[in-house]
Order: sequence, then C-alpha cells, then structure tokens
Amino acid sequence: MTQGPLTTEAGAPVADNQNSETAGPGGPVLVQNQALLEKLAHFNRERVPERVVHARGAGAYGTFTLTRDVSQWTRAKFLSEVGKQTETFLRFSTVAGNLGSADAVRDPRGFALKFYTEEGNYDLVGNNTPVFFIKDAIKFPDFIHTQKRDPYTGSQEADNVWDFWGLSPESTHQVTWLFGDRGIPATLRHMNGYGSHTYQWNNEAGEVFWVKYHFKTDQGIRNLTQAEANKLAGEDPDSHQRDLRESIERGDFPSWTVQVQIMPAADAATYRFNPFDLTKVWPHADYPPIEIGKLELNRNPENVFAEVEQSIFSPAHFVPGIGPSPDKMLQGRLFAYGDAHRYRVGINADHLPVNRPHATEARTNSRDGFLYDGRHKGAKNYEPNSFGGPAQTGRPLWQPLPVTGATGNTEAPSHAEDDDFVQAGDLYRLFSEEEKVRLVENLAGFIAKVSRDDIAERAIGNFRQADADFGKRLEAAVQALRG
Ligand code: HEM
Repeated sequence: MTQGPLTTEAGAPVADNQNSETAGPGGPVLVQNQALLEKLAHFNRERVPERVVHARGAGAYGTFTLTRDVSQWTRAKFLSEVGKQTETFLRFSTVAGNLGSADAVRDPRGFALKFYTEEGNYDLVGNNTPVFFIKDAIKFPDFIHTQKRDPYTGSQEADNVWDFWGLSPESTHQVTWLFGDRGIPATLRHMNGYGSHTYQWNNEAGEVFWVKYHFKTDQGIRNLTQAEANKLAGEDPDSHQRDLRESIERGDFPSWTVQVQIMPAADAATYRFNPFDLTKVWPHADYPPIEIGKLELNRNPENVFAEVEQSIFSPAHFVPGIGPSPDKMLQGRLFAYGDAHRYRVGINADHLPVNRPHATEARTNSRDGFLYDGRHKGAKNYEPNSFGGPAQTGRPLWQPLPVTGATGNTEAPSHAEDDDFVQAGDLYRLFSEEEKVRLVENLAGFIAKVSRDDIAERAIGNFRQADADFGKRLEAAVQALRG
C-alpha cells in the first residue's frame, strides 16, 4: 500500500477515525458521516460462506519437480521432461470442523494441490487417506450431515456418526484407517497425501492407463495419540497451521516424494478389485509405486483470506493427457466443486490471483458477472470469429471410454475379491499389537457414546466381519465402557 493519509474506499482523506460525527457534542450520529457508515457496512461483508466441508485449512505455494520420464503413460506437458519444475499451491484442511475449529482432531486431512502448468491449472483434490468412506456421490450429503452438527442438538452426535457408518459397511476400511494411529497427524508436514481416486492418463499414441497418486512425506510419519491431541487442541487450536507457516518462514521446506501406481487399461476389467472403487486400494504387490517427482512447499501466502480462503480447487480441472475415471464418487465431484465455487466465491473466482493460470492464460468468451475486472478489454466475446479470437483444438484432454448396458441406478460392478470388509481386515492385521490396542480403544471410546444398543451393535458387527479378533476385542471394550 502506498504512503499517505487514511482514506475512504473512494480515496478521499479521512479526518477523524476515532470519533464519529454527531449533531452537537453528545448528540446523535449523522447520516452524512459516510466514513463511519461505509466502514460498518464493509465490515459486515468481510466473510464469504465457509466451505461446506474442509472449512478449516492452511495453504502454501511450492514447486513440483519431475524426476522420471513418464511420457510413455501421459502426454501432460508438465510431466514431459526430467527436471522440469511447475509452480504449485497446496491447501491442507480438516473435513468436519468449522472455520475456527481446532487442528489437532481425528479427521481425514484434505490435500488439495494445484499445479500451475503451461497447459492450464491441474488440480488434484485428495486427502491424506488412500481410500474414502463411501463409493457413490449420491451418499455424500447424507454422510457429511452425520459428521457435522445435528439439526436439534447443534453438536456432532455419536448416534448419527455410527448409525450411518453401521448402515454403510463400505466405510469399514476408511474408519479402521481413521481410528488407527494415522488418524491424527502430528503436523501437516508429517503425513502423506493421496489422489485417492483412480484417474486416466493417456499418452501421445492415445493409449490409456489408470493411475493413482501418492505423496510420501520426506519428514517421516508422525502422529498424535488421542490424549495428546485432546490436550493440544485445547491449548493451541492453531497448532498445525502455525507449524506449517513457521517451518516455511525458517527455510525448513517440507517435501513429499511423488509416486504413481499405473494400471494398463486392459487390466481393469479383470483386476481382482474394482479399480474405480474409492473404498479400496490397489495393493502395492499388484501395482508397485513408481517414483516420479518431488513436491516442496517453499512460500507462504501473504494474505490468508485472499489466497487460502478464496482458493478454489476442482477435480474437474484437468490438462491434456489427464482425465477422469468412471469412479462414481469422482464423477459426482466433477460437478460439486465448480458449483461450490460459484456459490462461495463467485462467478469470477477463477480469475483471482491464486486461482488463475500462472504459466498460461485463460482464453474464454465468458464475460462479466459480479466483480468482473474487464481483463478482456475490447476483444470479441463469441466463437467462431474473424478477429483472431481463440479457437478450439479438436483434441479432447482424455481418451473416450467404451460403455455397455442400459442406464439405471446400479451399483458399481463387483470384481472377484470385492467385498466391504476384505481390505479393512487386511489393514487391521497389518497393525502392530500396540496399534491394535490403540485402535480398539479409540473406536470403543466413541462407540460407547452411542445411545442405542442396536446402533452400537451394528457398528461393531462391521469390524467383526473384517476380522473376528478385531470384532471380539471391540465388543469387549465397548461393553466395559458402557457397563
Ligand atoms: C462425491 C463426493 C464428494 C463431494 C460431493 C464433495 C464436495 C466438496 C465440496 C462442495 C467442497 C467445498 C469446495 C469449496 O467450497 O471450495 C469440498 C472440499 C474438499 N473436498 Fe470434497 N467432496 C467429495 C468427496 C471428496 C473426496 C473423496 C476427497 C478426497 C479424496 C475430497 C477432498 C476434498 C478436499 C481436499 C476439499 C478442500 C479443497 C480446498 O482446500 O479448497 N472430497 N468437497
């Protein structure tokens, strides 16, 4: 901001910013005191609606460096040359809490990454978990209602959470993950990120590959126990956000090693799990992770509202060589985010400095709307035109998919080894004895708060189906707490 006197929004000098203008000393305030009225009115409008989920978050800019040639799988230009660097912006978040909620809580963490590529912005809007609670977008609003505040009590209710999870057995894998040690990361730097969904990569020859992204923390995994988190959340609600900012301020730049699992398109139909089911991982033995790059965060935003609160990420922001898979969750998300942005930040949200392309420019014929800045100047606003306006390329970003069958509200197809419990059981059996003890304690502490036995029993039943020992221990622990 330039030097000079304090002014009104219209730039006129303000004479007195301590005393409002009155009709005589001690008299009522005058309408002509526009500096006061403008200040109060602007203050009333300082907020935009918080995100309906992932409201609480922190962000930072960084650099992605490609370390392996991946052109055999994708023609995306930012993934085309070893050593190539792309600017990024990453926003971390919790899911259920409101804007002012504490950081150290048990919740998945959002890991929303924007690559400012020369072919447009590519957003990978993932979490710190490789899987999710549900596998169809039509269930998402119901699921989130159970995580958020109950319409009557105004608080999160164990009844709602466990009722939904008990009745949605596909959540068992993610819930086992969430109540394990990784459910409360020690900081945002000490956790992994995942694209979670399966996405399409396609190469110059038009061949299709299915891909899953992994971001492995170079800081090492560190977590908080429930007791540690309870204390920290009370004493320092901003713990994670501050840790991230301070580490970047002192030049201790957090980084992640980027890996992909690649599945040739022809494998998908016969793979033992439905490869587009977000409640399942692809075991590494089936598709080993391949290291392709490094992500480093190295610059803090200067203004949290402008750059973090107003940042927008959409799973529908693809670039040539990358596209969606038929994952039904992902398909729903392709609509939901742009719609949320138009409501939350406005129709020109894409053009704010944090959101617009940095390595190219947006060339559309869309115009005007609230807060349009006139960036197109006098250029024609239709296509085709004879005035040198931008033209279509004729080449889709991703390859078409063959489809069969009739339309209908059908479940995604089940593959040979698909059921809702197999990978939850595998995960449980992978845990050390100490972690199993903590997992059961964490789950039991929450399930014990449920008011109805049938809801508690149904919830425990899902873990029993994942692993008999898991179910037995959990049942005993819940009984001990409920008496
Ligand atoms: C069909 C299921 C889903 C729907 C409808 C949905 C919807 C939304 C909406 C509306 C927002 C707020 C966006 C905004 O206001 O800017 C959001 C944020 C977010 N969602 Fe989802 N979501 C879904 C599933 C998922 C999944 C599976 C993941 C991760 C794998 C995820 C990760 C995120 C993240 C990281 C954010 C925060 C983005 C940011 O930092 O601005 N969501 N989601």
